[in-house]
Amino acid sequence: MQCSTMQQQKLAGRREAKAAAQKACAGVRVAGASARVPVSTVRQATSSVRAASRATSVKVQATATVEKATAPAGSLSSNGAGTRVMIIGGDGYCGWATALHLSARGYEVCIVDNLCRRQFDLQLGLDTLTPIATIHDRVRRWGEVSGKHISLQIGDICDWEFLSQAFTSFKPNHVVHFGEQRSAPYSMIDRQKAVFTQHNNVIGTINVLFAIKELQPDCHMVKLGTMGEYGTPNIDIEEGYITINHNGRTDTLPYPKQGNSFYHLSKIHDSTNMLFTCKAWKIAATDLNQGVVYGVRTDETMADPLLLNRYDYDGIFGTALNRFVVQAAVGHPLTVYGKGGQTRGFLDIRDTVRCIQLAIDNPAPKGEMRVYNQFTEQFSVNQLAEIVEREGKKLGLNVEVTKVPNPRVELEEHYYNAKCTKLRDLGLQPHLLADSMIDSLLEFAVTYKDRVRHELIKPAVDWRKTGVKVNTMGAAVAR
Ligand SMILES: NC(=O)c1ccc[n+]([C@@H]2O[C@H](COP(=O)([O-])OP(=O)(O)OC[C@H]3O[C@@H](n4cnc5c(N)ncnc54)[C@H](O)[C@@H]3O)[C@@H](O)[C@H]2O)c1
Repeated sequence: MQCSTMQQQKLAGRREAKAAAQKACAGVRVAGASARVPVSTVRQATSSVRAASRATSVKVQATATVEKATAPAGSLSSNGAGTRVMIIGGDGYCGWATALHLSARGYEVCIVDNLCRRQFDLQLGLDTLTPIATIHDRVRRWGEVSGKHISLQIGDICDWEFLSQAFTSFKPNHVVHFGEQRSAPYSMIDRQKAVFTQHNNVIGTINVLFAIKELQPDCHMVKLGTMGEYGTPNIDIEEGYITINHNGRTDTLPYPKQGNSFYHLSKIHDSTNMLFTCKAWKIAATDLNQGVVYGVRTDETMADPLLLNRYDYDGIFGTALNRFVVQAAVGHPLTVYGKGGQTRGFLDIRDTVRCIQLAIDNPAPKGEMRVYNQFTEQFSVNQLAEIVEREGKKLGLNVEVTKVPNPRVELEEHYYNAKCTKLRDLGLQPHLLADSMIDSLLEFAVTYKDRVRHELIKPAVDWRKTGVKVNTMGAAVAR
């Protein structure tokens, strides 16, 4: 990595702290999972994962911040006491941050997760940039730090016996469903992983809908969809529905969906199944079409090193901005796919957790599938690269941008204007990328740059080459 004297001085301090952290750090076991990950070689997770200790150089906030987070009712810092929220996928990137955010505000939280995200890393030889503790240690530590209990149920929501038992014992008022295979490249590795993705996501969601209908009919479902469901139409993207005049008649219909991977298509199937069951069974649901999430910092996940969130930067799970930031930190050129005009919605992880709280605090009525577009700003890939380059230079990083052949099949220059007003109307005050770039992104990447594995950064999954042959070894590292 090339960097200036200023940055080397900054990093020297960090390195000392990090060395102390690693010394103090215990090898933390990754819990075994019963996931139906389509690979026979995935072993019971034993792991190189290490939890960083208190000495880690990233600003870890005092416990007091968490305790103060319980605030008066009626706002984003409201007291959720008495509200029971099941968080499916609560060990993942968005789910973990959300579980702590809600727990800190008094909601009673139960995490449900089969830990398959950790298994994907073992399967493909990937790892998060930040060292994360096991879910058991995370939950235990949260209890010590905050005095609040999060219950944990390890299992697969595609397994009806497990899910129905989890519902019956916890009796959620809201279920927040993050628990899906969420990588488009993963779903395009080979036939097996395409089928796994659609089965895992679509069947899991159907099971949640049945669980609500049969076991907890007043439970409100908050489901994470994606802005990618809409594709890139040459007209404005509305929030879920569009009113169409056709041959003299008018109707308000679901906005057309055009998925660009087997993953995105699984989310579209989910939305269709939800809409149907809202009508047929009077289920109350909020579908959050989320943009690309960036950043790793929330008050709660920064309250202790064992609570640190994951940060994916590899070519399969790393989202564009998180990947660029790591590339900048290690002196790897920022890899813009194709022409770089691909434009998408983005949001800070701190806004993800607030949007979920807003969706819970303002539930859809029974029989309605409410749809919000959950992002705060839109950028093209070229704009993101320019921002990372500019901000990286302020830190003394030597940032270059390079164009690589686009492994995806997508428009590289297109119109994009998506609406995102409903969550703001409910009170969301966005964190803007320009303000988060250094403290929530580059600082982490620089701190943990020694953990970066350069060979995992380039795209290795090509949409045009997906085949029936199992491609586990070819998936993570570009040839
Ligand atoms: N991260 C983003 O930028 C982003 C953007 C748009 C939408 N989303 C959506 O938000 C949700 C969460 O995304 P994330 O980035 O936190 O993903 P993640 O992979 O980090 O977390 C998903 C969690 O769900 C669990 N899970 C998956 N299948 C499960 C099953 N069958 N049973 C039980 N648990 C299961 C995984 O083990 C993992 O812990 C996903 O549905 C994703 O599609 C994410």
